[in-house]
Amino acid sequence: MSLEEIFDQYLGSRIYKAREKLLPDYVPEDLPHRDEQIKRLALTLAPALSGSRPSNVFIYGLTGTGKTAVTKYVLRRLAEKGGGRIEYVYINCRQNNTSYRVLAELGKFLGVKIPFTGLALGEVMKRITQALDRKHRILIVVLDEVDNLVKRNGDDVLYYLTRVNEQLTNTRVSVIGITNDLKFTEFLDARVKSSLGEEELVFPPYNAIQLEDILRRRAKEAFHEGVVSDAVIKKVAAIAARQNGDCRLALDILLKAADIAERERASEVTEAHVDKARNEIEKNLTVDVIKTMPLHVKLVLASIYLLTKEGGAKTITTGLIYDKYKELVTKVGIEPVTSRRITDILNELDMAGIINARVISLGRYGRTKVVALGVPLKNVEEGLLSDIVISAVIGG
Ligand SMILES: Nc1ncnc2c1ncn2[C@@H]1O[C@H](COP(=O)(O)OP(=O)(O)OP(=O)(O)O)[C@@H](O)[C@H]1O
Ligand SMILES: [Mg+2]
Repeated sequence: MSLEEIFDQYLGSRIYKAREKLLPDYVPEDLPHRDEQIKRLALTLAPALSGSRPSNVFIYGLTGTGKTAVTKYVLRRLAEKGGGRIEYVYINCRQNNTSYRVLAELGKFLGVKIPFTGLALGEVMKRITQALDRKHRILIVVLDEVDNLVKRNGDDVLYYLTRVNEQLTNTRVSVIGITNDLKFTEFLDARVKSSLGEEELVFPPYNAIQLEDILRRRAKEAFHEGVVSDAVIKKVAAIAARQNGDCRLALDILLKAADIAERERASEVTEAHVDKARNEIEKNLTVDVIKTMPLHVKLVLASIYLLTKEGGAKTITTGLIYDKYKELVTKVGIEPVTSRRITDILNELDMAGIINARVISLGRYGRTKVVALGVPLKNVEEGLLSDIVISAVIGG
């Protein structure tokens, strides 16, 4: 913590009343515009209160549409009502993205010791089954972002959890699977697919008006009065509405804008703060995407970066990129990939919005693809320079 922050804590923030209420993990008291989903989930799970196993639920919707928030919200209340007869365990399959880790999390919840590695999956399942049956409960297992697990390790865990009731006498298990990526269902066994989808719940994207409404309520909890104007709320909501109605993005922008306002010692959050916040978020996204690219993708991007920076070529063609790329791999001392692969890489970069590629006609010389960076040069630079191999060949 900096001196500034230490002192400011005593001064109290002019902006925030409760900053933590804008953080991603906080589940707000009410979730406007999700009444339908809350009600349907509650209706599906309510049989647990009279002791029968609720249907498994499959929840789908784009990112930031409230799937995690709604699920936690309903389950918390259900567990309270159940007075100990209903329990739930929440497992995030992005953080725990192997079958073993998901089962280990479940084991931890059940109080079963599962070593960090080493046991066969079947043995882990056996121990969990025994522990489950000692429970005498209804247990709802939430597998959030479940696509991460299935794409990596297949559907073993889902298969196990949707079948385990056949081996249990005292406990009943229901599964809630949540995803923002439907493609993974291709990897599911037909039986798993149908048991997981006993009940299906779709979360549509929020529109701008709904986002405004949500932001207004969240802002009221987090900020002092008069700090965030309606114009600011509207602006943030409009940006997020264009990004598939992503409420997480909306809250992110609002939080970042308010942090900037606080840093600048402003007494309110302005539209200019929102613009700054948005640029910062976009920049971070670009830099992060570049940082995690495989080496050859970085080398192709580095070639485009250098050609752009040198500025000699008016249009950057695939031919020029390939030559530059070869130069770079020689410097690094590795083998180049095929030109076919370069074409694929250019398509990937185009899809990610890092570059813009278009095909132009060269008259009787045929056609070629020309490329330009789709994001600011300095963001590309920052991403690339974080790689020591790349920075050695492009730096200085
Ligand atoms: N109706 C709402 N009212 C208030 N806050 C909401 C609402 N819907 C979503 N949020 C907030 O927006 C953020 C994103 O929501 P959530 O994490 O539930 O999205 P998600 O659908 O699970 O997205 P992902 O697929 O990326 O996991 C959270 O901070 C959540 O509290
Ligand atoms: Mg989520």
